[in-house]
Amino acid sequence: MKIQPNEVDRVLIFDTTLRDGEQSPGATLNVPEKITIAKQLARLGVDIIEAGFPFASPGDFEAVQKIAEQVGTPEGPVICGLARATRQDITTAAEALKPAAHPRIHTFIATSDIHLKYKLKKTRAEVLEIAGEMVALARSFTDDVEFSPEDAGRSDPEFLYEMLERAIAAGATTVNIPDTVGYITPSEFGDLIRGIKENVPNIDQAIISVHGHNDLGLAVANFLEAVKNGARQLECTINGIGERAGNAALEELVMALHVRRQYYNPFLGRPADSETPLTHIDSRQIYKTSRLVSNLTGMLVQPNKAIVGSNAFAHESGIHQDGVLKHRLTYEIMDAESIGLHENQIVLGKHSGRNAFRTRLRELGFELSEQDLNKAFIRFKELADKKKEISDWDLEAIVKDETQTQ
Ligand code: KIV
Ligand code: ZN
Repeated sequence: MKIQPNEVDRVLIFDTTLRDGEQSPGATLNVPEKITIAKQLARLGVDIIEAGFPFASPGDFEAVQKIAEQVGTPEGPVICGLARATRQDITTAAEALKPAAHPRIHTFIATSDIHLKYKLKKTRAEVLEIAGEMVALARSFTDDVEFSPEDAGRSDPEFLYEMLERAIAAGATTVNIPDTVGYITPSEFGDLIRGIKENVPNIDQAIISVHGHNDLGLAVANFLEAVKNGARQLECTINGIGERAGNAALEELVMALHVRRQYYNPFLGRPADSETPLTHIDSRQIYKTSRLVSNLTGMLVQPNKAIVGSNAFAHESGIHQDGVLKHRLTYEIMDAESIGLHENQIVLGKHSGRNAFRTRLRELGFELSEQDLNKAFIRFKELADKKKEISDWDLEAIVKDETQTQ
């Protein structure tokens, strides 16, 4: 799908699991694994796949090229390759992306004074010049060019406005605002995006994107504030994997926009009650994608991780279990089915009540009389005092014991 800045009616999802996500300590993927993930990302419905950093290694080059070939079909997502603002990086990325129907080159250079002084050892004027030249070079290979002023979150806003104006004038069609070190807070990020909209004269010729890290656990909150202020592309990863504390988690962003669409709709210029989804994502593919990425990268998902953690739809306390059994909306804000899970899981433990216990037994095929249920429930509570979670095996053993001792 080709993306035009003034035709965006949804929030675009740019997945960087295969690039920034793979920068997680300990997460390496081989080429076939990257292709498998890219195919699943396409099924999930992401708009752009950042498939890698082609100049970084021959393996990355090959992965980007193969993904461009196999996933970058005319109906498929945009395939993107990362490149520093250097001639070699950009020409290598262009080469790797050749097979894609919709290739994007994503080039970046730092703009914070800290990075200019200690890392690049360049002046502001020098990086402005380089960015303009390199965006124009990238644009000679493709009409879809993204530019990122690295460490934008700690850059002087006035300099940032100047840099973005220069990049757009040179041909950038997306300008991405990275909070590279996960430093900014939600209201500051919202103000920064609004400042960009108000102070970069040619901003209407580009899509505003955001990219953020989770060093303070704020990446998703920052992005939601950015959407309210005009950002229309979110750069994120599956399960939030990535450099240090990771990137903004795709599943959290998508479900926040989905569950709270009445709140976010007006920021996209729609009536609050519009049912048009805010993204192109098929949320029923979320759980499967999360499991695939976790299995292939070896990065485990914490049990209490929002949306995809094993406890995300589990109810342990008796009061909550009873409420959910009476009506799901009492303690649930979304259906497990909406992320591709078949049913909400009830974990039985010492706080579970009789109603939840009876329901689980029914699910296991046991219909007990009131008297048997009472006896079994007493046994269950005794066991739950010793064991944190009661498995279906335990329940079956209790029921068989009770029915045999009659
Ligand atoms: O965190 C960052 O700044 C990046 C850029 C390359 C966009 O990953
Ligand atoms: Zn990053």
